Amino acid sequence: MASRGSFASKFGVLMATVGSAVGLGNIWRFPYQMADNGGDAFLLMYVICVFFMGVPAMMAEFIIGRHTHRNAVGAFESLAPKTSWTGVGYLGVFTGFIIDCYYCVVTGWTLYYLYKSVTGSLLGGTMDSYAQMFSAFAADTWLPIILLIVVVIITCGILVMGVQKGIENVSKVLLPMLFVTLIILAVNSCLMPGALDGLKFMFVPSKSNVTLFTFLDAAGQAFFSLSIGMGALITYSSYFDDNINITKTATQIAVIDLLVAVVSSLIIFPAVFTFGAEPEQGPGLVFKVLPSVFTQMKIGWLWSVMFYLLLFIAALTSFLSITEVVVAYASETFNLKRLTSSIIIGAIFVVIGSVTSLSFGPLKDVTLFDMTIFELMDYLASNILLPVGGVLISVFVGWRLDRKVVASQLKVESPKQYKLLSVYIFFLRYIVPVTVGGVFASQFFS
Ligand code: TRP
Repeated sequence: MASRGSFASKFGVLMATVGSAVGLGNIWRFPYQMADNGGDAFLLMYVICVFFMGVPAMMAEFIIGRHTHRNAVGAFESLAPKTSWTGVGYLGVFTGFIIDCYYCVVTGWTLYYLYKSVTGSLLGGTMDSYAQMFSAFAADTWLPIILLIVVVIITCGILVMGVQKGIENVSKVLLPMLFVTLIILAVNSCLMPGALDGLKFMFVPSKSNVTLFTFLDAAGQAFFSLSIGMGALITYSSYFDDNINITKTATQIAVIDLLVAVVSSLIIFPAVFTFGAEPEQGPGLVFKVLPSVFTQMKIGWLWSVMFYLLLFIAALTSFLSITEVVVAYASETFNLKRLTSSIIIGAIFVVIGSVTSLSFGPLKDVTLFDMTIFELMDYLASNILLPVGGVLISVFVGWRLDRKVVASQLKVESPKQYKLLSVYIFFLRYIVPVTVGGVFASQFFS
């Protein structure tokens, strides 16, 4: 087996895992999910899902990963050999494929908008012209494909450099850049005249119809945003040292991830309200609405460069973690060099990613269950595969894994800590599966 890497420092671990968590899910998906679901009520449910289901499930992945020091499939093979539990690992690799194939498309879009911002050609249009521009660009056959190829090459290039020199070092540089940019943009937005309306939209309770579906959306969003349910965190934590505190790291990631999602909305909604744009725009929000907002702002080009750079960094570091699941699995299982497996996997992503990209243009009429290929991949991953994966991983650690392993990974020693451990196991055994399972089932019976 190829020798395994490991992260070198606590800071590196935090930046890499936060890099995985903070992504398009926070900046692109969260704001429009919140807008579509009536703002504040969604936010509250989201916070509940993050801390009561997200953190326990994330810790479960860390326990499996660090205990076994294996990739997502290998981890289950070593803990429950020759049982169907290994299927959970395979499910993770499969989910990674599905997410990657549309994530690279959207990451490519961010690159296009970044390029147009830098060259100054983005600004100067109207709301309508931006909507048209986006549709025309996404529907184009070649440009989005070329961009996704660039994204795949950058990603595989970083992965080939290895865990420490590639993933860790890149994250240590890019993530602090992301935080600084995020804060500058948020302060700027909140100083705008429409900031209060934006904040009201986010925080003041409205009489919106909150249904079980709102909760499903919130739970799905939490799993997606925290990178739970497909072994990305099993894979990353297999590179953790013994001195990493799992509970603390999981909580830190959840808090930072939540803050980034909320701050991203603080960037978007005040600006949207100030310049009279529509908040409910679905997935097009950051691509169709924001350019018109930047056009109306003083030194808008600078803000747009910063915003799309932020989006690109966030997307890239998440894309890295999803791809690493597949690369680690392939290199360790088939005994390949990381270079070889990255090239093979990159090539596969380019092919399937291109088909996904074409679902905005030439293949837009190819639908299944009323969804285009792109929509189907997103739905399948976020609403089905990730919740199923997350629950299975939690159930595995809660019911099947030796309690001693859990205790030793969480460094449980005192009687008080043992009590907390029972609470934790209770969450894994009942709260996570029952809640996620119930909400999950409800979507098929309504
Ligand atoms: N969390 C990332 C985001 O918010 C996406 C992501 C990265 C992911 N790795 C993952 C989602 C693993 C699920 C599983 O955009």
